[in-house]
Amino acid sequence: MFRSTDSHDTAARPDGRDIGGSKDRLTRRGFFRWFGDLMLAGAAPTGYAFAIEPGFRLRIQRHAIIPPNWTKGLKLKVVCLADPHLGEPYMPLSRWEKIIRIANDLKPDLVLLLGDYTASHRFVTRHVPVEDIARASTRLEAPLGVYTINGNHDWWSDEEAQRRGFGPIASQEAFENNGIRALVNEAERLEKDGVPFWLSGTDSLVAIKTGRPGVYNGRDDLTATLSGITDDAPVIHMAHEPDLFMNIPKRVSLTVSGHTHGGQVRLFGYSPMVPSSYGNRFAWGHIIEDGRHLVVSGGLGCSIMPVRFGMPPEITLLELG
Ligand SMILES: [Fe+2]
Repeated sequence: MFRSTDSHDTAARPDGRDIGGSKDRLTRRGFFRWFGDLMLAGAAPTGYAFAIEPGFRLRIQRHAIIPPNWTKGLKLKVVCLADPHLGEPYMPLSRWEKIIRIANDLKPDLVLLLGDYTASHRFVTRHVPVEDIARASTRLEAPLGVYTINGNHDWWSDEEAQRRGFGPIASQEAFENNGIRALVNEAERLEKDGVPFWLSGTDSLVAIKTGRPGVYNGRDDLTATLSGITDDAPVIHMAHEPDLFMNIPKRVSLTVSGHTHGGQVRLFGYSPMVPSSYGNRFAWGHIIEDGRHLVVSGGLGCSIMPVRFGMPPEITLLELG
């Protein structure tokens, strides 16, 4: 069981224990309301934080890494697209199509879609069907393939899957119906120029609503995922929520995640509100702990409030080896 700070009030650890959460504590929703009020104090910053940064800015965030347990000579260019949260007016399908064109211009070997495809905040004027998102995503070009994982919002937006408690969820089926492989607690062996590596993906830690505020059941199974890896080739692992990094063994060369949006508001390298049990620890960027490597994408869209400040939408480009 997992408690999330994504849209509820309680901060807690994956083992269910609170980490100082209380009803008096500033919540993410409360923080964004406060930040919105602050922005409303001046027209220019308001327009920037509510319209320009989330809706128009886009950066290529590059990370050049030689991960541990990496095969000498294996060079991989990987584009990661996380948390687009499609929904008008901030992320219409046309913006997703533009992002895809920019991603293709980077000439990646591999494209990883890291989950959370739809927006659910109250400022959405028109929802974009997951079938349309998946169909548009077929325009992504990468010789080693395009892969997706499930995010928590992908689970939450599928009411039928919430009721039955297991997948496959609608977005996963939409991608697979369009020829984009979903890695749901499984691994696949790939090769570049005859040099093998593994790509694995786990399901969301925050998948099923329990009816208790902020408490969710995960559908992740890291043990089953890694049991599918049958040789010593390097492993890239996709996990929507970076909190899973706590359980990732050294056998994995690199973990890639989204979910946090870098906190959406980030000032001087600090994000006041991060949907993680570990605060700023896994909020954004390239993190190395105990010889293990994690890259957290700042993502492309917004949740709770359509606001970004100091954390523009990003295409995350990994140059490995
Ligand atoms: Fe998420």
